[in-house]
Amino acid sequence: MRELPIVKALAAVEDASTLDPVVTRVQRVVDAVLAPRALRDLLHGVPAGHPLHPVLVLVPTGSWISAAVLDAMPGQERAARTLVGVGLLAVAPSALAGFADWAASHEQQKRVGLVHSAANLVATALYGASYLQRLRGRSTSAKLLGWTGLGAVGLGGFIGGHLAYRQAVGANHAEDVPHLVSPGWHEVAPLDELPDGELTGREVDGKPVVVLRRGDRAHVLSDTCSHLSGPLSDGALTTERGEACVTCPWHDSVFSLRTGEVVHGPATSPQPAFTTRVADGVLEARLPNAG
Ligand code: FES
Repeated sequence: MRELPIVKALAAVEDASTLDPVVTRVQRVVDAVLAPRALRDLLHGVPAGHPLHPVLVLVPTGSWISAAVLDAMPGQERAARTLVGVGLLAVAPSALAGFADWAASHEQQKRVGLVHSAANLVATALYGASYLQRLRGRSTSAKLLGWTGLGAVGLGGFIGGHLAYRQAVGANHAEDVPHLVSPGWHEVAPLDELPDGELTGREVDGKPVVVLRRGDRAHVLSDTCSHLSGPLSDGALTTERGEACVTCPWHDSVFSLRTGEVVHGPATSPQPAFTTRVADGVLEARLPNAG
């Protein structure tokens, strides 16, 4: 079975640098609107441990699909109108969450994300018009606008699938680490070869890690950022709530160096954190859930 032409079209959109001036303008607006970090963390889904956008889109999508079914049945005008209205009310939070994630993505993802949001904007406009027609009692045009809107929602959803599964936006990019590191203790480096109080990159069982040594103790995290694979060892050593953290150099996610927990997004999944010990002057690390 071969790919649908739309998949090839989306691959072309990934490389369509002609979209970049629009991306830059939208980015400026999103950065201004979502300036408070606590708001961005919430919209990314940091407290939930995974992106919030896919959850929030269930409300407009589900409402509009249900309205489309009711529109095909006689005597359901009032219920269908309510569902179209509920969907319209739910657009803003899901769009904000989507734009928060979009603003912290790679350029190819931003281009596709722009087309995704355009399809959803068209869908929202069609459902807005459909709702107005329902208020005016123009049932036939309201239904036609609704069904057309559902087509736009479907297109937006398809592009969202491309973003999530082909381009891995929102996925945990550190999920594979416990499957690639073998169980047990592994040598990291002689302790006195590690800089004291600075982040440094090393390998554990052939996998990159970021190490912070402080005296005769050390923290070790997987180096590949769970957000979009940025190299944490090139990041900054920071302090949050009195705890040593690493800030990713790509989109500023902040992780606790002790636990790997996400302190600030856009990452929502923790960094795999190694247990450490010093044996005969050599730092060793073990991943508790390896294998
Ligand atoms: S790769 Fe995006 S924050 Fe690390």
